[in-house]
Formats: sequence, structure tokens, C-alpha cells
Amino acid sequence: MNNNDTIKKTLIVAVSLCLVCSALISFSAVELRDLQEANKTLDKQSKILSAAGLLKEGGDVTELFESIEARIVNLETGKFDYQINLDEYEESAFSRNPSTSIELTANNDIALLKRRENFQTVYLHYSMEKLNAIILPVRGYGLWGTMKGYLALQPDLKTIIGLEFFDHKETPGLGGEIDNPKWKATWKGKEVYSDSGDVLISVIKGSVDRSSSQAKYQVDGLSGATITSNGVTNLLSFWLGDMGYGPLINTLKDQESKDV
Ligand SMILES: Cc1cc2nc3c(=O)[nH]c(=O)nc-3n(C[C@H](O)[C@H](O)[C@H](O)COP(=O)(O)O)c2cc1C
Repeated sequence: MNNNDTIKKTLIVAVSLCLVCSALISFSAVELRDLQEANKTLDKQSKILSAAGLLKEGGDVTELFESIEARIVNLETGKFDYQINLDEYEESAFSRNPSTSIELTANNDIALLKRRENFQTVYLHYSMEKLNAIILPVRGYGLWGTMKGYLALQPDLKTIIGLEFFDHKETPGLGGEIDNPKWKATWKGKEVYSDSGDVLISVIKGSVDRSSSQAKYQVDGLSGATITSNGVTNLLSFWLGDMGYGPLINTLKDQESKDV
């Protein structure tokens, strides 16, 4: 028998290999954590810019993002909050903590969030000192998980500039078509509120009848993905309504300068 074929040697090789591999995995996980976080932030920034139609091909995201002003909004009062440090705000921590969030009921939890944070970050883009776009974080359940994205509105606070998702678990080719540029392009120019302020925007089943008076509030459904499509309708209804940014939108509408 070859001397290397003993149980002891086999075990030593196996254990050493495991130790080396786990050390390598731990090292890369720790070393790459900062890089992963930085990439996540960059991706969110590019989606915010893209939703607002500000992402230029080949443009530097960090540089372009300098034109965006982030602010914390108190969702209850609809006013901007200057006490909470923007760098310390974390959506998931705020939405889990009972002192900074509310529990939603079966009646009002249309986006299936369970809890809603009392504060959110919103993004403003000014050009020539005039508000050019307001970009609102939105999220809600699709078929497989929570879809997270950004909705950008024009200064009239009802016309959509764009809708972008940066995180979801929907099936590629079905619900995953929420990332399809052609579908995303159909959101531009749609309106979210009726003249009396009701949230009317929805993803319908099938194609929008362009001659219909409701067409400006409707977006084509994703075929074979009605659950995801309804999820998008529900998350927009929630975040544009009284439990979401409704109070902020009303405050901004009341201010001629669109600033509070
Ligand atoms: C493997 C698999 C993945 C699916 N993924 C999605 C999805 O991401 N979003 C969705 O709405 N429906 C998805 N569906 C289909 C739903 O179960 C359901 O049939 C569909 O939403 C109904 O839409 P329709 O009325 O447009 O056909 C999936 C089905 C299967 C079998």
C-alpha cells in the first residue's frame, strides 16, 4: 500500500483543504463587504437618476448624483424633517423599530408591507433653482418578494417621469419584465392622481385603449404576470396615498415655491 493512502493522511488533507477554503471565503466576504455596499449605493443612485430621466449614457453616476438633494420626510405630517441625520437613516431599521414605524392593518396594507416607517428619504432635483423632479422610494410585494424602486414625478406632482426597480425577486421573462426598458418607457407621461386627488394609476390586464379617457392613468399589463402587475399597482396606490407620500404631496402643492 502507498504510504499516502492512510486514513490519517486523507483526513489531514481534507481538513486542511476545508480550513484553507473557509479562510479564503471569510477573507473575501469581509474584504468585499465595503465594495458590495458601495456598488449597491451606486446602483440605487443610478436608478434614482434613471427614474428622473437624468442618467446619461457613459455619464459618471456619482457626479450626476451631485445634482440630487436628499431629504428626510415625516410621512405623518408630510413635512421635511431636519432632525434625523441623512447618513444615519436606514429604511429597514426604521421600518422594523416600533418607535419609528406603525403597524399596518389588513385594510390599509395594500402593498403587503406589514409595517410602515414614519420617515423616508425623498430625492429632489432642481434646475435653475426650480424643482425639476421629485423621486420617491416605493416598495411592495409582487409574487415572490418585495419589489423596491423609485417613482419620479414632474413638478406638477402628478405626471410620471419614470419608474425604476432596483431590487425584486420576480421571474425573469414574466414578472421580471418590470425591468424591460420598453415597458418602463410606457410609464412616462402617465398621471397618478385624478383632478380630485384620488390615486388612479394602475397596471391593467392587457393593453391600454389609447382612445379611453382613462388611458393617461393606465399602463399595459405584463403578460403572464398579472400578480406582479397587480403588485406594482398596489405599491403605487399605497405610496401615493394617505399612508405614503399623500401628506407630503399635499404640503408641496400648497407651497407655491414647491419647498417646505
Ligand atoms: C415558475 C413560474 C414563475 C412565475 N413567475 C411569475 C411572476 O414573476 N410574476 C407573476 O405575476 N406571475 C408569475 N407566474 C404566473 C402566476 O402563477 C400566474 O399564473 C400569473 O400571474 C397569472 O397571470 P396572467 O393572468 O397574465 O396569465 C409564474 C408561474 C410559474 C409557474
